[in-house]
Amino acid sequence: MTKIALLTSGGDAPGMNAAIRAIVHSCQHHQYECIGFFHGYNGLLNDKWQTLIHQDVSNVLQFGGTLLKSARCPAMCTPDGPKQAANTLRKHQIDALIVIGGDGSFHGLEAIKAHWQGQVIGLPGTIDNDLAGSDNTIGFATAVTTATHAIDKIRDTANAFERVFIVEVMGRHSGHIAFNVGLATGAEAILSFENCDPTNTAPQLAQLIAQIQIQKQHNHESFVIVLAENLWPGGPEALKTQLAEQAGIDSAVCVLGHIQRGGSPAPEDRLLATELGLAAVNAVASHRDQVMIGKQGNQIQEVPLSYAISAAKPVDGRWVEAHSDILTEYLIKHRE
Ligand code: F6P
Repeated sequence: MTKIALLTSGGDAPGMNAAIRAIVHSCQHHQYECIGFFHGYNGLLNDKWQTLIHQDVSNVLQFGGTLLKSARCPAMCTPDGPKQAANTLRKHQIDALIVIGGDGSFHGLEAIKAHWQGQVIGLPGTIDNDLAGSDNTIGFATAVTTATHAIDKIRDTANAFERVFIVEVMGRHSGHIAFNVGLATGAEAILSFENCDPTNTAPQLAQLIAQIQIQKQHNHESFVIVLAENLWPGGPEALKTQLAEQAGIDSAVCVLGHIQRGGSPAPEDRLLATELGLAAVNAVASHRDQVMIGKQGNQIQEVPLSYAISAAKPVDGRWVEAHSDILTEYLIKHRE
């Protein structure tokens, strides 16, 4: 009987449970055995696992987090880690390993592949949406929804106090969340990797100050800056200090942080996770290896793991342009 191992790794993402559920159901349909390893790759290193059947995945798809737990696993970056993981897979006579995670998790898969003959399949699970080969990653839609609702709430208090807010959103080193959330909330400014050079922030700061001052002259109620994490040197607090010191602008900082990773997955993520989970088991049945299963243009697609990890996945240029056009229009209108 074909035996599939499954784990979730790296930053958890809403929808991972829905993907696990789909994989377990599909395994039963194909009459494959499915076992889940716990705590990301640590489960392979510590041999911590359980067989997964229908009952284990009933009533899970509506919850964030992951029933298999997740973790980052520094040991997988040492020469011994992947060898040990491969030994565990051999011990259990696993035919295929499916990993739901982000680029770090896929590096782990490639490292295991160097010591093991079985099939390795990746599913894109990260709120950051930074994997090439899939238009969206599992968890991204929920993170954008959560951050949008949070900023809508911030807008109420910002309006009441006629305040400038700096809201930091996640994304590691990519601006997918920042741009989607910034546009969805009508943020007056979006500062992200795509439109702001962190090695030379002076032009952005000058533009921001001018924009806030123009806005204040026209009695607009509030001003929301969506800031991508890891962008501004010194983070949002440094930006707050610079606004105060250089232009006497008072602002409030809100770091949305891990609330963007939690919560009930949006329907888009449940559906994407379900589709990709089913496709992952089909890929095992079709003897695919070292691929990530994604969805592009409404089609399920397989791309080499190496491509998913290394190819750029830029924020859609239309979003960057749309924000810049809105800003330009605004400045022209209010300078008149
Ligand atoms: O990759 C997902 C993510 O939430 C990033 O957006 C963020 O930079 C990082 O993980 C945070 O990692 P941790 O939870 O380990 O602090």
